[in-house]
Amino acid sequence: QAVVRHTFIVQDTEYTKLCSTKTILTVNGQFPGPTLYVNKGETIIVDVYNKAHYNITIHWHGVKQPRYPWSDGPEFITQCPIRPGQKFSQKVIFSTEEGTLWWHAHSDWSRATVHGAIVVYPKNKNYPFPKPHADVPIVFGEWWKRDIVEVYNEFLHSGTDPNISDAYTINGHPGDLYPCSKSDTFKLMVNYGKTYLLRLVNAAVGDILFFAIKNHQLTVVGTDGSYTKPLKVDYITISPGQTIDVLLEANQPLDHYYMAARVYSSADGVEYDNTTTTAILQYNGKYAPSSPSPLPYLPYYNDTSASVNFTGRLKSLADENHPINVPLNVSTNLFFTVSVNTLPCIEGNACEGPNGTRLSASVNNISFVSPSIDILKAYYLNISDVYSNKFPSKPPLFFDFTADSFPSYLETPKQATKVKVLEYNTTVELVFQGTNLLAGTDHPMHLHGYSFYVVGWGFGNYDKEKDPLKYNLVDPPLQNTIAVPKNGWAAIRFKAINPGVWFMHCHLERHFSWGMEMAFIIKNGEGPKGKMLPPPPDMPPC
Ligand code: C2O
Ligand code: CU
Repeated sequence: QAVVRHTFIVQDTEYTKLCSTKTILTVNGQFPGPTLYVNKGETIIVDVYNKAHYNITIHWHGVKQPRYPWSDGPEFITQCPIRPGQKFSQKVIFSTEEGTLWWHAHSDWSRATVHGAIVVYPKNKNYPFPKPHADVPIVFGEWWKRDIVEVYNEFLHSGTDPNISDAYTINGHPGDLYPCSKSDTFKLMVNYGKTYLLRLVNAAVGDILFFAIKNHQLTVVGTDGSYTKPLKVDYITISPGQTIDVLLEANQPLDHYYMAARVYSSADGVEYDNTTTTAILQYNGKYAPSSPSPLPYLPYYNDTSASVNFTGRLKSLADENHPINVPLNVSTNLFFTVSVNTLPCIEGNACEGPNGTRLSASVNNISFVSPSIDILKAYYLNISDVYSNKFPSKPPLFFDFTADSFPSYLETPKQATKVKVLEYNTTVELVFQGTNLLAGTDHPMHLHGYSFYVVGWGFGNYDKEKDPLKYNLVDPPLQNTIAVPKNGWAAIRFKAINPGVWFMHCHLERHFSWGMEMAFIIKNGEGPKGKMLPPPPDMPPC
């Protein structure tokens, strides 16, 4: 069977939204970019041409790429950027994923506009629920009226939080509550009596979102490319990086209903975009047009319990056709604190952080410093001085992580490029502990190259005696992104069977830019099936 090829042309494209026009980076001129449709287990090749004046990389979020980290995409982790005028043919290897994933740029903040959905069909379109009438990707995004490169540079220079966006978007459209946006509000046309599979992707740069459809319950059936037990809900919470599949039954009498999304923002004192993006669910046929229906109910912007009330109820489908495989015996325990911190000001910068500092972020008190050649190449070719392999398994100091205030000496992280090396086949339990150092908030932590079971979560400090007793080892959800709740922790498990270099980071772009990331190196195992594949000949040069 011939390998399917796709062409991605990264280019500057003019878009008009919120009454003003600007040039954005797109793939094939589209915002959001093209949806990729693949079958489970298929390998495709995407020829990425960079026709912009800007370095870029493309990442396939949630695609495990077994033994082939070479086209995973994070800049200076698995590759150097594709420069203007260059091309990189990226092999994307699907294996066990089934459901919805997405792709996005993985260099500075380009992913604000360079992203799109990936739909992975089951074999023979054999869903574990009645076959839906149609599939509809719903991609949430954020829009700034200003140039995103300017917003990003200003953010780095200021040392404090970035300027908030001017709108959220649904499939690229802010919706009719925003100026100059009414005529291109996204409309989903449905037929009464049919069921639709909505494939929700949160591609927003920095915000967790609540989403709901007026008068319609949603049945969650999957997340992050894996099925869940059907869960009926009135609203969903979706983190940047996360995907959620929901069934929508078109069973209501009027001709149209609003769907809406709005921020969930738990950080105290951090400004947020409090606007609401809308789209319209429109029934085909001869319905009398109704006056605009009211908006659906969405939880209040800082309602952490509403957020975990949704997220904490997800469970793997775990039936005989979709068995799960939770590692029961853990061979390596990792405990990672995730914190927002401060660093001394860089001279010449604005330094608007607390007391003239700049904000930073860290994992186990290490704020990640991006190297100038990629870690994967350095690892493969044994180039020294690019990274250290001494990333700690636990924080340098245990303290009351979720207290209300802290001695200030706790606040300054180390800056380094460190990776955690794991032997092939290690069974890992990783506990993420949120801290309140500067300000507590949710952190959607994302791991490349793997899906992991979320076996537990809770509020306060993790208790290594008591909390494991409450783990779900029967049907925990299989995810690639987990929102570590504000003032709390989350525990994940995975087996290190994918050799390579795999990035892990907070998917809130500002935390990522401040250093809330690290990388794993999983060593080769025995036999050819345990070894990384060789690099392609056209890796972008450094
Ligand atoms: Cu969605 Cu490292 O990425
Ligand atoms: Cu974060």
